[in-house]
Amino acid sequence: MFNKMTATLSFIAVLALGSAPSFAADVNNGKTLHQAKCYQCHAEKSGLGNGDIIYTRADRKVKDPARLKFMVSMCNTELRLDLFPEDEADLVAYLNQQFYKFK
Ligand code: HEC
Repeated sequence: MFNKMTATLSFIAVLALGSAPSFAADVNNGKTLHQAKCYQCHAEKSGLGNGDIIYTRADRKVKDPARLKFMVSMCNTELRLDLFPEDEADLVAYLNQQFYKFK
């Protein structure tokens, strides 16, 4: 009983301490990840030598926030980039702030 109670209390403590930052997406982390994992391939695939153009080209694929999440997740999973869901959320936040600007 005591152990279970202690475990529950420490769980709550962890939640209370950890929750505030982890709910807000980290745009800077998204930017860093984007440079490290995404930019190069997009620059090559677009043939323009600039990995940002893929997001702003006239016939871009992403037209709404759901689609943005889907594409980030697709590139991550398909290409086995091994990003955590938190990283995907940070990337979505960065790409949206920088390029897509969905509300
Ligand atoms: C090995 C190559 C490669 C890597 C690495 C890669 N992508 Fe992509 N990505 C592509 C290609 C190719 C497309 C274009 C798909 C199309 O036009 O149908 C694309 C398209 C996208 C789009 C949609 C752009 C639009 O048209 O609006 C998003 C968003 C995206 N990638 C996110 C990411 C993110 C985030 C990462 C890094 C975690 C990443 N990609 C890494 C190849 C890659």
